[in-house]
Amino acid sequence: MSDSDREHTKEVTEQFTRAAEAFSERSRGRFDVLDPVAFSRVEPGQSVIEVGGGSGNFISKFQSIAGLAAIFDLTPAMLGVARRTYPGLALVVADAERLPLASGSADLATTAQALHHMATPVEVVRELRRVTKRSGRVLVVDSVAPDRIEEARAMNELDLIRDPSHVAFRSPAAMKVIVQAAGLDIVDEHLSVEQQKLSQWMWPDEFPGERIEAVRNFIEERGAETGMKFERSGGDWVFERRRLMLLCERAK
Ligand SMILES: C[S@@+](CC[C@H](N)C(=O)[O-])C[C@H]1O[C@@H](n2cnc3c(N)ncnc32)[C@H](O)[C@@H]1O
Repeated sequence: MSDSDREHTKEVTEQFTRAAEAFSERSRGRFDVLDPVAFSRVEPGQSVIEVGGGSGNFISKFQSIAGLAAIFDLTPAMLGVARRTYPGLALVVADAERLPLASGSADLATTAQALHHMATPVEVVRELRRVTKRSGRVLVVDSVAPDRIEEARAMNELDLIRDPSHVAFRSPAAMKVIVQAAGLDIVDEHLSVEQQKLSQWMWPDEFPGERIEAVRNFIEERGAETGMKFERSGGDWVFERRRLMLLCERAK
């Protein structure tokens, strides 16, 4: 591992150790509208793993149907919240690029809202492919950037002020290139568009006050460049949040 990889890992684990409780509470309902269980066509008793599963809000959706539901995550504090909130999950501290799991062992390997923390998304998705059974599937879920490069750049500039442990949000087209480069074929895709408030995106319990202030200033000055469609709502801002789900299988 290079020095910069080590530095990034430290940044991610510090951020999620500090924010574990508040992050988990703030983001609890965000997968309700996506219905990832129906989308993934997972069958009763199958094994489901999530890489970067954190405090369990995503994989918990699969608990009533899966025979085994396991999280692999870098941050022990996030797994601690998962243990208390969703008993019954298997929890493993691990790096997404090196999963301590035999090849071909999971029916469904997922990652949700974590790829934008990772600098090597192709390697991570390839690792998901490795641990998936031949008959299994890979489900990739993440927020996405606009297709226009200027907007994507401005969105990511704003996002790095909000959370320096992020690497980048990629456009839907880039996400598709990533999964295909990792040796997967896309069998289904869904792009959801939701309205979100700045006050819900940055809870004071989770983010330092000066970062919230810096994000507000960026939105005032350059929000229109981000393609996020910011609009004032009283003392708050409302904007568009886009999430992509890609259901994939091993390329023939
Ligand atoms: C935004 S949280 C998402 C948690 C969960 N998937 C959810 O949506 O509620 C991102 C998680 O990815 C984990 N993470 C980031 N980089 C990782 C890596 N290289 N390997 C494993 N986990 C990682 C962090 O520790 C954090 O728990």
